[in-house]
Amino acid sequence: MRLRCLQLGMTAAALSLAGLGGCSGPQSALTPAGDEATRVAHLFWVMLTGAGVVWVVVLGTAVYASALAPRAHPRKLGSALIVWGGVVTPLFVLSALLVYGLMLMPELRAPGDGLKVAVSGEQWWWRVTYQPPGRAPVTTANEIRLPLGQRVELTLDSPDVIHSFWIPSLGGKVDMIPGRTNRIVLEPTRTGEFRGACAEFCGTSHALMAFGVVVMEQAEFDAWLEREAAPAGDGPGLGRDRFLQAGCGGCHAVRGTPAAGTIGPDLTHVGGRVTLGAGIMPNDRAAMRRWIADTTEVKPASRMPSFGMLPADDLDAIAGWLEGLK
Ligand code: CUA
Repeated sequence: MRLRCLQLGMTAAALSLAGLGGCSGPQSALTPAGDEATRVAHLFWVMLTGAGVVWVVVLGTAVYASALAPRAHPRKLGSALIVWGGVVTPLFVLSALLVYGLMLMPELRAPGDGLKVAVSGEQWWWRVTYQPPGRAPVTTANEIRLPLGQRVELTLDSPDVIHSFWIPSLGGKVDMIPGRTNRIVLEPTRTGEFRGACAEFCGTSHALMAFGVVVMEQAEFDAWLEREAAPAGDGPGLGRDRFLQAGCGGCHAVRGTPAAGTIGPDLTHVGGRVTLGAGIMPNDRAAMRRWIADTTEVKPASRMPSFGMLPADDLDAIAGWLEGLK
């Protein structure tokens, strides 16, 4: 029985370590690409090492007492073990960790004096508004782009249900609570494409609420934001006409056209985003068409109804036009 427990313990530890091997990629807190994520990862390794030491000591004591020296031990030794191992050590270790964690907090959340980004958790997508200092805000959706090496303050809220904003590669997670504005400060340390996700169960399509994250060089980011601020979709075209005729503009805005809805995501430059449907599909024409025709199948309980009743030619035209909005 004792041997079996020991084997189980060893297997669990081996499996946990093997599991860590899979913790890389665009959505990994263990391959950080941001200042906060680096500190969180550091804290994780410190705590894992500490937990490992405690595990070895506890298991070693158990093996010693039960297998190596299975005899009655002095009562005094037992009491000392409880006082030092069960009271003094945890009190010291946990207090030290608490102080270390509290000391990190103000440093992590100190804002920069440049760009701010407001992010709102919707059902089930992300409304994103860039607020560059001294310039008009730029609204987009379902994607966050950040300049390398800049501290950017993100303000987080939600109009209805609680979500949690999390880009594991860049920082910790923060809840988005209706009626309250929370904040997180992110400072990317490496360029690349990453992935963020909602980390709080918020409803039917919680698991389908992700977003692309792109960290760019400052100059590249400035150029992108300037393009993003400009209108798109001007000029006549079948797709544009069908989009407006189908009433899409009641919920969506495409700056440069009469479509000015604010219920759904801003689509002004939707063709230039890395994903569709809030991080769940590749951004190409086929996926766009599928999204429009089978919305509630792709994202159950989506507030946007499926538009599969539109003629096939109209679906093609609308998808083609939206894909062209770079
Ligand atoms: Cu939004 Cu889970």
